[in-house]
Amino acid sequence: MYRTHYSSQITEELNGKKVRIAGWVHEVKDLGGIKFLWIRDREGITQVAAPKKKVSEELFKLIPKLNSEDVVSVEGVVNFTPKAKLGFEIIPEKIEILSKAGTPLPLDPTGKIKAELDTRLDNRFIDLRRPEVMAIFKIRSSVFRAVRDFFYKEGFVEIHTPKIIATATEGGTELFPMKYFEKDAFLAQSPQLYKQIMMASGLDRVFEIAPIFRAEEHNTTRHLNEAWSIDGEMAFIENEDEVMQLLERLVAYVIGYVREHNERELRALDFELEEPKLPFRRITYTEALEILRELGKDIPWGEDIDTEGEKLLGRYIKEAYDEDLYFIYQYPSSAKPFYIMKYDNKPEISRSFDLEYRGIEITSGGQREHRYDKLKAQIAEKGLNVESFDFYLKAFRYGMPPHGGFGLGAERLVKQMLDLGNIREVILFPRDRKRLEP
Ligand code: ATP
Ligand code: AMO
Repeated sequence: MYRTHYSSQITEELNGKKVRIAGWVHEVKDLGGIKFLWIRDREGITQVAAPKKKVSEELFKLIPKLNSEDVVSVEGVVNFTPKAKLGFEIIPEKIEILSKAGTPLPLDPTGKIKAELDTRLDNRFIDLRRPEVMAIFKIRSSVFRAVRDFFYKEGFVEIHTPKIIATATEGGTELFPMKYFEKDAFLAQSPQLYKQIMMASGLDRVFEIAPIFRAEEHNTTRHLNEAWSIDGEMAFIENEDEVMQLLERLVAYVIGYVREHNERELRALDFELEEPKLPFRRITYTEALEILRELGKDIPWGEDIDTEGEKLLGRYIKEAYDEDLYFIYQYPSSAKPFYIMKYDNKPEISRSFDLEYRGIEITSGGQREHRYDKLKAQIAEKGLNVESFDFYLKAFRYGMPPHGGFGLGAERLVKQMLDLGNIREVILFPRDRKRLEP
């Protein structure tokens, strides 16, 4: 074993005891009679102090030969002293070099020499050696854990649906086509049709956490071509608000979990994550247009609220109510996909919602049309080929309960939660218009 303790696990009870630490050489300093070495591991940085009188000659000579980012294992005795920044240091007895680091490094792991995002992403493994970058991915891990936790607590069953599919779900323009032997196929944009089919199975409440693929042509700070979607679908709902209630509790739970378990990471990011107030504010699409009109932005009823409109609205809600999360609901039916239910008494309005976080959409969802004839008509209305939805429609002919659900973009959630500027910051190896490697 090259490591008995992480830097964070060395406590006062270990004073005078022997330990082994392992990690990357963060810095080496030669002060003549005493040589210092700082070893960085996942949890922090440990000081190794080698006074000439206390260590072997061989070891004393070895330390200055080490380079930044070499991987080493150090065995030594813990010495608690106020002189060390963490309150303790290690007096080494043995240093093993496990791997030498080449020079020059393609990226400065201390972040002192600023690098472009592209250079950072090309060298992601070194980029993550910076605590504030690693913090993002520890938080991302917590987010996924909390999401699973929440769904299990709420009685949801985790499902896994195909990612190679034959039919578009969210419109045909953003599909990645592929060859499937002699057939044409696509990468899945969403598990939409499959999670809905499962509502006819009796599983009642399902969730899936999986990648979605979208051939977005533009390079933006909030779109990826491969993203992770957190999908929920639930049966026997009476209206879309039941889905909104579940979703707001999910998001609040995730934020609460991160606040509780990632204090250190939030500190590394120098970010204060606020606990949201429940319930989240609900603004109808029509009300949103009215607010925007007052702010000087005129969007004709029926049109999508564009990026600028979303941002304006986000800023308005923050200033007026000091809130970051809010729903926009009751979108025009024309602006939403075929599977969303319309209000029977007002078919121009749909039982749909988006959840917005600091002025960016992080979720879409709604109540679905579960009545076979109406659903079939809605598919045709959108100009889609009804026959290609046969496998889906079949599930609506033999007992389909009323249901609804949502798709929550994991990267959008983490990006907005931490108020980061670019969605690429929160995914290890982003796939965007240009980036297919690493
Ligand atoms: P969804 O996948 O649910 O549609 P989204 O956040 O990508 O989520 P869109 O409906 O695609 O939302 O777009 C919302 C608005 O954002 C659009 O009306 C458009 O003005 C703007 N927008 C969308 N994609 C881009 C883009 N690639 N570049 C610039 N603006 C965009
Ligand atoms: P929608 O298309 O709005 O809805 O997608 C749901 C959520 O997924 C995220 N998202 C993306 N994130 C990063 N890059 C992208 N290119 C990207 N596209 C989508 C967003 C978005 O809010 N089937 C419906 C959901 C449902 O009704 O259950 C759907 O896919 O956060």
